Parts: sequence; structure tokens; C-alpha cells
Amino acid sequence: MKRHLILLLLLCLLAPSLWAAPDGKALYEAHCSACHQSEGKGGIGLPLTGEILSQLSDDYIAKTIRNGRPGRIMPAFVALSDAQVKAILQYIRSWSNQPAPVYPKLAVKGDPAQGKPLYKKHCQRCHGADGSGEGTGTGVTLSREREFMVMPAALNNPGFQRSASDAMIADIIRRGRKVGGMPAFRKKLTDEQIGDVVAYVRTLKSPPPIRGMREWAGKPAYIMESPYSFEDTVQALRQALTGANFRIFPPRYLEQGLTDEFSVNKKQLGIRFCNFKELYHLLNIDPRMGTVLPCRINVLERNGKVLLVSPNVVEVARLFNNRELLEVAVIMEEIILGVMEEATL
Ligand code: HEC
Ligand code: HEC
Repeated sequence: MKRHLILLLLLCLLAPSLWAAPDGKALYEAHCSACHQSEGKGGIGLPLTGEILSQLSDDYIAKTIRNGRPGRIMPAFVALSDAQVKAILQYIRSWSNQPAPVYPKLAVKGDPAQGKPLYKKHCQRCHGADGSGEGTGTGVTLSREREFMVMPAALNNPGFQRSASDAMIADIIRRGRKVGGMPAFRKKLTDEQIGDVVAYVRTLKSPPPIRGMREWAGKPAYIMESPYSFEDTVQALRQALTGANFRIFPPRYLEQGLTDEFSVNKKQLGIRFCNFKELYHLLNIDPRMGTVLPCRINVLERNGKVLLVSPNVVEVARLFNNRELLEVAVIMEEIILGVMEEATL
């Protein structure tokens, strides 16, 4: 009997993965830390620190993992098992010694018509008229540095709306979010008024998505094959760009090590170009766009094929979740694709 116990113990030590619950820390590191950083310090993803966690119910976090935030970078993790989601949740909770809040399931009573002017007065300057968190003076700059690519949570996002309960939203309004600079409204608004604001927040909807060219939607880059030689393609591309009123910068070979695959290939040239009107328009809307400017078409020769490759400007702009930016990106996409088509005609 004793020997069995020892054997069992040994087995436990040697092969914990055989029956242990999923490892929340490992799962968090694999699936979440790239955006939320270690221990939820926040980066591209919102911070998940103690004070914030004390307002987020288990139900909300689990649903957020499942639903993601469509259009706001956070993916929906549909492939994780319930046990894995639970393990991640437990790991996140281990960062804070405060208990998980439990909110009543009952919907908060309120009148959206009464809530609208209150929202306008108290919330709009940070969360935007439409709840997208855009515009000047949003919470972005309060809670995170400008160079981060993502703004704070969009209240009109279907992922948020589906995950957050009325009672949780009311609690966040009441207590605020010190970390992000959101004031507490406990003393400024009565419970009834907070109910009205919650009811109004519930009416906020994301506008229908702006679409780029359907053919290229979701693809990271535009890729077209050229019927010409490498040198002739470069020539044709330069002509097409000049024809479209782009200014071309001195060409340069793709940086070494940009990707290993490319760095060994000598037949590759990045043509950088700009149309200053569109460029300035983009930068005016969001200066962070400067870090990912799509003003480049690469010409590469691979396996005897000459290809034109340019980052998908609409997909890049989508990350910023800014409608105005997306509208300009859709125009730029049309121009860039036109140039690429002309160069490969
Ligand atoms: C001074 C700016 C500011 C004001 C005013 C403000 N908020 Fe916020 N709010 C923020 C920031 C920043 C965050 C994100 C904090 C974080 O988690 O980093 C936030 C978070 C939230 C959240 C949680 C969203 C999520 O996904 O976690 C809700 C709900 C919310 N605010 C609603 C409101 C409402 C309703 C009002 C008006 C009564 C309001 N806020 C006023 C800045 C503000
Ligand atoms: C690719 C980046 C990315 C990954 C990966 C990611 N998130 Fe997020 N997460 C975000 C962004 C961005 C937001 C804010 C969404 C918004 O702006 O509305 C967010 C929001 C959240 C929120 C809501 C926070 C709040 O204050 O309301 C939680 C909770 C969360 N993520 C948990 C997770 C967990 C757990 C994982 C791993 C299973 C994960 N995220 C993976 C980017 C990411």
C-alpha cells in the first residue's frame, strides 16, 4: 500500500501535466501577455491591475476572453476550453488580493433619454459622443502613452456590450478608474442618474464597419504578380507612381534582417513614395499612424516570379479604430492598388 502511494507521488512529480488542471500562467503568457504584458501591466491591451480587477467580475473577464473586442485588436478566444479560460482567470486573480466582485444579474433601471444629456456632460469628453473613445482629450492619453496603438475601451463595442453587465457599468461609473484617470461619479450623480447613464450607454452601437476592397479584406498585404522582369517592373512602378502624382523617395534595398527570407534575396527593392495631401491628412488624424505608414511598395523576385507587395493600408488603419482614418485609408488603398495594377498591366 505504502509503495503504491510512493509510486503515485513519484508519478505526480514526474508527469504533472497528465492530470493537473491547465496551467493558467503558461496560457496567459502564450495568449495574453503579448498585449497585456506580464502581470497585466497593460500595453496594447488595457491594464489588468489590482484596482481595475476589483471592478471586473469573473463573468465579465471570461466573456471578454470568449467574445474578444471585434475591431479593437483583442481577439475572441473560441478555441480555449472552459477549463483553460478558468485557469487564465485564476492566474489573473492571483495578482491581486482583492476578491472578485459579484454583481447582481438584474438589469439596472434607467431612462436613456435622461441619460443622454448626462453622458454628454460627464462622459463625452473622454469617451466620445459615440462611445468609441475617439476624438480629442480621450482617456487614451491619460492612461497610456501616445505611442501605444490602441485607445481605451470602446463602450460601443459589441464585445464590451455583450460582456459587461449593467451593474458592473454602474459600479465603474460610481467608483471611476483611478489608474486610467476616470473620475468617480458617486458624489456627482445620484443612483437614479447613474442608472439613466447606464441605459444610455446601452444604446451606443458601433457604426457598420467601413470596408476596403472586398478582395483584399483581412489580408496583411496587397500582392500582385508582374509579367515583366525585375528591372522593368521597378521602372513601370516608378512611372505609375509619378503618373499618380506621388513623390518618390530615393529607392533603397530592403533592410537586412527585416525578414530572414527576404534578406538573402538581392532582387528586392522597396520603393517609398508619398502623396503629401493624404499623408498629412493621415498624420493629422492620428500621429501614431506615422510608425506604420504604408507608403512603400516592394518589388521582389522569388522563384522566378516578380511580385509587387505593399502593406494593406486599410487593415493597418483598422487597428486604430478611428473612422476618419479608415476613410482616408480606403481612398489610399484605391490609389495604391491602381498604381500596382498599372505597373503590372
Ligand atoms: C477623464 C476621462 C474620463 C471620463 C470623464 C469618464 N471616463 Fe470612463 N474611462 C476612462 C478611461 C481612461 C477608462 C479606461 C481605464 C482603464 O481601464 O485603463 C475608462 C473606462 C470606462 C469603462 C470601463 C470600460 C472597460 O472596458 O473597462 C466604462 C464603462 C466607463 N469608463 C464609462 C464612463 C461613463 C459612463 C462616464 C461618464 C459618467 C465616464 N466613463 C467618464 C476615462 C474617462
Ligand atoms: C492582440 C492583443 C490582445 C490579446 C492577445 C489579448 N488582449 Fe485583452 N484586450 C486587448 C485590447 C486592445 C483591449 C481593449 C479593447 C478596447 O479598446 O475596447 C483588451 C481588453 C481586455 C479586457 C477588458 C479590460 C477592461 O478593463 O474592461 C480583458 C479582461 C482582457 N482584455 C483580457 C485578456 C485575456 C485574458 C487575454 C488572453 C486570453 C487577452 N486579453 C488577450 C488586446 C488583447
